[in-house]
Amino acid sequence: MTDALHQFQTTCDQTGASPTADIRRIVADLGYPARWNWCWENYKPTVIELSRARGLRRHLEIGAGRDPLFQPDEATQLDLDITLNDISAHELSLAPSGYGKVLCDIAAPDAPDIVGRGAYDLAYCRMVMEHVPDVAAMWRNIGEALTPNGVALAFFPTLYALPYVMNRLIPEKLSRVLLETVFPERKPDGDDPKFPAHYDFCFSGEDRLMPMLRRAGFSNAVILPFWGYSYFSKFPILRDVDAAFNRLAERRDWRAASSFAYVVATK
Ligand SMILES: C[S@@+](CC[C@H](N)C(=O)[O-])C[C@H]1O[C@@H](n2cnc3c(N)ncnc32)[C@H](O)[C@@H]1O
Repeated sequence: MTDALHQFQTTCDQTGASPTADIRRIVADLGYPARWNWCWENYKPTVIELSRARGLRRHLEIGAGRDPLFQPDEATQLDLDITLNDISAHELSLAPSGYGKVLCDIAAPDAPDIVGRGAYDLAYCRMVMEHVPDVAAMWRNIGEALTPNGVALAFFPTLYALPYVMNRLIPEKLSRVLLETVFPERKPDGDDPKFPAHYDFCFSGEDRLMPMLRRAGFSNAVILPFWGYSYFSKFPILRDVDAAFNRLAERRDWRAASSFAYVVATK
């Protein structure tokens, strides 16, 4: 068992049964190792299993953009009622039709009224939190949008993984040019455009996140860290040295060096 999994199970044992126990079982069943490729491949299965385990039908996908997690036919098959949110009208317009769509900044004071108070069983977002300047406000609003038994799941990149430290330190214009040179699909007219990132509360340590989540009205949370990424895949020596460091960081459970996290929080 990795240190991260041991820490994760300990956290679950301390927080008791029900939602966190479900989360422990779900990710254990999905074979959770704390590796970056697992978190990408298993985000959707985690959302599906969480929905099934707790009967969470009414979903709010925050910052869904042009590429929502579920296609409309999948939502029908899974009997899910999905609303898509985004701050960008352009991104929402590129998403398929067949869902409710809500245009707003999820961190704005009026967001709960716009998306609907107490209207959702499950709210989730992938690669959105790092783009929100006031993440505490985002979590408060998510809490308002959920039912009393609601669950929130955020999947986000974490500091102080090297690519994100570079992205935060380098001026936006320069980091955009660098990223778009190596990965042309990240251009504004590409399939995966770059959005400005702030990394507010983008950490995988309980000590950094739990006080903010409690203030936002969440009583329990499970935080799953992941290590590694593919950003240096085109630079063999850097890639190998960096991968060796990431494996060491994973074994030692160095949260400050993690690259991604899932936060699953219940009210
Ligand atoms: C990197 S994209 C991720 C899109 C999608 N979640 C995915 O995984 O493919 C970030 C998305 O978050 C949206 N976004 C950024 N800030 C937001 C905010 N404050 N409220 C709602 N959406 C936001 C952006 O417009 C963009 O569509």
